Amino acid sequence: MRVKSESAIKTVPSFVYHLPDGAESGQYLGLELEENRLRAVLGNITDGRLHHTNLDHKIYELPLELRTSGEEFFNHVAQCISDFLDFVGLKNTCLPAAIVVAFPCRQTAIKKPAVNWTKCVEIRDCEGPDVLTMLREAIDRHATFNLDIVAVVNDTVGTMIAAAYDHPQCEVGLIVGTGVNICYMEEIKNTDYEVRMEDFPDDKKEISWADNSKDTSEQKICINTECGRIGDDGSLDDILTPYDIQVDLNSLHPGKKKFEKLTSGLYMGEVIREVLLDLTRNGLLFKGHDHTSLQTPGLFHINCLSQLESGHVGVLQLRSILQHLGVGSSCDDCVFVKEVCCAVSRRAAQLCGAAVAAVIDKMRESRGEDSLCITVAASGALYKTHPHFSTILKETAKSLATQCTMTFVTSDEGSGKGAVLIAATDRLKHQM
Ligand code: GLC
Repeated sequence: MRVKSESAIKTVPSFVYHLPDGAESGQYLGLELEENRLRAVLGNITDGRLHHTNLDHKIYELPLELRTSGEEFFNHVAQCISDFLDFVGLKNTCLPAAIVVAFPCRQTAIKKPAVNWTKCVEIRDCEGPDVLTMLREAIDRHATFNLDIVAVVNDTVGTMIAAAYDHPQCEVGLIVGTGVNICYMEEIKNTDYEVRMEDFPDDKKEISWADNSKDTSEQKICINTECGRIGDDGSLDDILTPYDIQVDLNSLHPGKKKFEKLTSGLYMGEVIREVLLDLTRNGLLFKGHDHTSLQTPGLFHINCLSQLESGHVGVLQLRSILQHLGVGSSCDDCVFVKEVCCAVSRRAAQLCGAAVAAVIDKMRESRGEDSLCITVAASGALYKTHPHFSTILKETAKSLATQCTMTFVTSDEGSGKGAVLIAATDRLKHQM
C-alpha cells in the first residue's frame, strides 16, 4: 500500500470492491458484532433473490463482564454461534460467513481486521489482527461446528451492501447510533490503495480485478471514513462548548472521536446532562426538587431522548418521564429540558448532515461530474427512532450538497443482511 500524505481523518479501506448484483446464491451466515450484542443472521439466496423471509436471525446479549478478556469473550461468541446453528439446523455444514463489527477496523486485507475496541468495550488482550484468530481458536475449542469466515468488515459497509442489493445507486452507508460513521464507494484510482492480491485465492490471482476485463478507472473500493474522529486534530475546537469538553474528559477515551462525541447517541445524552447540571448548579432548574440522579452517567438513553422530544408528549408526560429517571421537576423545568434536548439533537443532526454532504460532494468531485444522484443507506437507533433527527440530517445534507440528488433508505435488516451478501459476493468472486 502506498501512502502519499498524512490526513487528520484516517479513512480505512474495507477491501470490499463489489456491490451485490443479483448473481449471488446459496446459504450464508452473517454475524453482527456490536458493543453489547451479537446478532446472527442466516440468509438463504434462492432464485436470485434474498427475500426478507429468507433471513432467520437471533440476538444474543454480550454480558459486560465478558467484554474485557478476549478468550472468555470469544468463547461466549462461539457458544452463541453454536446455539444459532442448532436453531437453524445447520450444525454439520461449514457455512461461509462474514462478520460486521461496530468498531473501527484497520485492515490490510478483507480477512485481516485490526479491530480497535471502542465504545464501552476494552478487550485488552485482543487487539489487532488477532481478532479473527481468537474467534477461530474459540470455535476449535468449542469443537462442535466449523465456519468458513471469509470477511470482516465495518458495520457501515454491511449497511451499505444490504441496501445496495435493492437500490443499485446505493454507494454510501451511514450509521448514527451509539457511534457515528460513514462509508462510501471510491474509485481506486483516486486512492492510495491497490487491489490486494491477498484477497484472492492463489489459483485466481491472475484473473483478479487488477488485470481483469474491467478498466482500472472503473474499479471502486469501499472506504470506511471513521468520520467520528473528525476533530481529533483540534479542527472542531472552535465549536466545542464547555459541556462538550466535560463530556470528553469524562469519557473512556478522552481526546478521541471528538465528532462522535458531538453527534452520537452514546454522548448526546451526556451533553444534555452536563447542560442540565450546570443550569441546576446556577439555581435555574429543578428548584426544590430531588435531582441527585442527574449525577448518574448515561442517565439519558436514546429511547428516553426520543420520548422527551416527541411532539405527542405533553408537559405532564414529560414530568413523568423525568420522574421515572429520578428527577423531580416543575412544568417550567420540563419545557426547559425539552428545549435543551432539541438544541443538542439539532446540532448533532446538522453536523451529521454536513458530514454526509461533504462525503457525497467529494464523490461527485472525484468522479468529475457536475451532478450526482446517490442513494444513502442509513441506520442506527438515533437515526431510526428519534422523532426529528433524520429529517434535520437529510435537510442539512441536501442544502449543503446542492449539486447532488440524495435518496435516503433505511435498512431494517441492518448490516447482518450485508454480511450475508458480502459472504455470497466473496463466493462468486472465487468462482470467477
Ligand atoms: C463507531 C465506530 C465505527 C462504527 C460506528 C457505528 O464510530 O468507530 O467503526 O462504524 O461506531 O457503529
